[in-house]
Amino acid sequence: MSSPTALLSYFNGLLSGGTAVGLSIGSSSIKLVELKKAGKSWKLLHFGIVQLPEDVIVNREIVNDIAVVESIKTLISQIKLKSKAVCTALSGTSLIIKRMTVEVANPRDLQDQVFWEAEQYLPFDVTEVVMDFQTLKKPVDGKTDVLLVAVKRAVLESYMASVEDAGLSPKVVDVDFFALQNVLEANYPSNPAEAVAIVDIGAAATKMVVVHDGIPVFTKDTALGGRNLTAEIQRNLNLSYADAETLKVGGSGPLPQEVSDLMQISSENFATEIKRSLDFYSASSSGAPVSYILLAGGGARIQGLSKTVEDATGLPTQIINPFNAISYDPAVFTQDYLNAIAPLAAVPIGLALRAGVK
Ligand SMILES: Nc1ncnc2c1ncn2[C@@H]1O[C@H](COP(=O)(O)OP(=O)(O)OP(=O)(O)O)[C@@H](O)[C@H]1O
Ligand SMILES: [Mg+2]
Repeated sequence: MSSPTALLSYFNGLLSGGTAVGLSIGSSSIKLVELKKAGKSWKLLHFGIVQLPEDVIVNREIVNDIAVVESIKTLISQIKLKSKAVCTALSGTSLIIKRMTVEVANPRDLQDQVFWEAEQYLPFDVTEVVMDFQTLKKPVDGKTDVLLVAVKRAVLESYMASVEDAGLSPKVVDVDFFALQNVLEANYPSNPAEAVAIVDIGAAATKMVVVHDGIPVFTKDTALGGRNLTAEIQRNLNLSYADAETLKVGGSGPLPQEVSDLMQISSENFATEIKRSLDFYSASSSGAPVSYILLAGGGARIQGLSKTVEDATGLPTQIINPFNAISYDPAVFTQDYLNAIAPLAAVPIGLALRAGVK
């Protein structure tokens, strides 16, 4: 199963001109990817990224919609995007993903039953949420395994409004976890005997999805992200947030010892968090053991993080490569550039792939 669920999916078929566009609105930056169908696979046409000041998305909700709209518009003109239809995604604390087993006599009653049962444990009033679900397996004895996705309507609407105000038309609203799953399925060989953990270390959060046999069997969202490290650097070196961020992402020579020490501590914190989530997965699931870890998100670029995660978990760990199965024009993109953007491009590419699914 690819492309599990979409909250808002009135999209059918390929986008106009055979291109598929993924737009990822992150806490620290907005990323836009355009792919073009090339035979059975995809070719990278454009990738663009615009940084956001730290007060635009706070607690993973848009608080400055004008800044978001302007940034999306900047990206559109930067990559000269012609297609209006995009697939975008939500994440955050108002998003709930839950695997459920429901029992219905008649398959036609499945949706009513799923939504009715979901209402029983959603922490929000049901009138405030938008729900969607996907059947995971064929029913056995009238019992069906489904994956429920629920999000606060107000949060969904604020994301949609920003995308629309920027002149785009959100055809599918998906979830970061499923975008990562798409990237895995499009780029890595599948082996039904093993599960794979993908960990997206963003600015505001770390998101893990464990995928087994085409199903996102486990998801975990922790409010630990790159911003925590930036804030530490800011505090310890008495800098502005923006200067601390610039220093951290480097590019301007060797890091001061104090910063590398803080980075090392931060790496260990991420590794401990990943280990804790994996332990929780193994304890609470009868699913296949995880055989390797793929790191995504800007945080994956922290020097030596893969090794630190490998040491903490005992599992082979590498940075995800969303371009394994995607072709590109070497006159436009160098291998070095693609390596540098690989972890940042994972979610938007997964969304573009979603947009391209018929
Ligand atoms: N070379 C680097 N070394 C360390 N950290 C980095 C590097 N490059 C980017 N980062 C960090 O990665 C984070 C941004 O990653 P990403 O773009 O994946 O987050 P986001 O999608 O904006 O946020 P979120 O997914 O949490 O909403 C920032 O905290 C940034 O400082
Ligand atoms: Mg992100």
